[in-house]
Amino acid sequence: MARPIIKWVGGKRQLLEELLENLPKKYNRYFEPFIGGGALFFEIEPTGGVINDFNEELINVYQVVKDHPYELIEDLKKHKNERDYYYQIRALDRSPEFHKLSNIQKASRFIYLNKTAYNGLYRVNKKGQFNVPFGRYKNPCIVDEEAILQASKLLQKTTILCGDFENIKELVKPGDFVYLDPPYVPLSATSSFTAYTHQGFDEKMQHRLKQFCDYLDSIGAYFMLSNSYTKFVLDLYKEYTILTVQANRALNCKADGRGKINEVMVKNYKE
Ligand SMILES: C[S@@+](CC[C@H](N)C(=O)[O-])C[C@H]1O[C@@H](n2cnc3c(N)ncnc32)[C@H](O)[C@@H]1O
Repeated sequence: MARPIIKWVGGKRQLLEELLENLPKKYNRYFEPFIGGGALFFEIEPTGGVINDFNEELINVYQVVKDHPYELIEDLKKHKNERDYYYQIRALDRSPEFHKLSNIQKASRFIYLNKTAYNGLYRVNKKGQFNVPFGRYKNPCIVDEEAILQASKLLQKTTILCGDFENIKELVKPGDFVYLDPPYVPLSATSSFTAYTHQGFDEKMQHRLKQFCDYLDSIGAYFMLSNSYTKFVLDLYKEYTILTVQANRALNCKADGRGKINEVMVKNYKE
């Protein structure tokens, strides 16, 4: 069985049951244009699926897992879960030599940082330099050989794209299914859209995404979309079926109350 190889903020592992219950009963190809850690993708293990993300380093990991799993595993074995070593590896993207690393070395660095950084966070500064502190985990699983080999098998049957979610537009046909898990609309009215993510997924982008969903609907494709439970989202998707589900708070939320929060799942089909 395949499983995610990267921990990702906003990962959908905790909502898997609800997502699986709400898939269309039958569909042709599977598409996931905001793949992140790919919790649903790895659970479904589709044949002939298409995945995409804006994050080049993340997509490089999937490409390397697909094409060079054994070399990647070998390279991962060199890493150490030690503070000084961590900061040395973290600093690589601050040096002009960074572009000289091979794609395998870049993927290995990304996985290492993901397993040992504080809370498994991915965060870069304005210059695109990784800036999460050391996580001080006792025994992180840096080389998950089995997960990489299983993922590699699945990725052999998958098309991997890198860029904006509309990348998949030309490929989606009637009867296909698209699961969309974008950066969420911020919960609080005081936090601005643009501050929410360095990719700048602002209000305009959320509208463009809605138009994309309308396009999918118009050609007879199925779509399901996750987002936050906010008036903005409820209004935007009011002509579709909207379900409310409960999720744990995101890792990077200021946690005064630890409890659950509502999220929505929007779909353009009944069952
Ligand atoms: C909420 S996360 C997806 C989480 C994923 N479902 C999981 O289970 O781990 C959102 C993803 O959207 C990506 N992203 C941001 N802007 C994008 C865009 N314009 N087009 C495609 N992907 C984008 C981010 O890099 C991030 O990986």
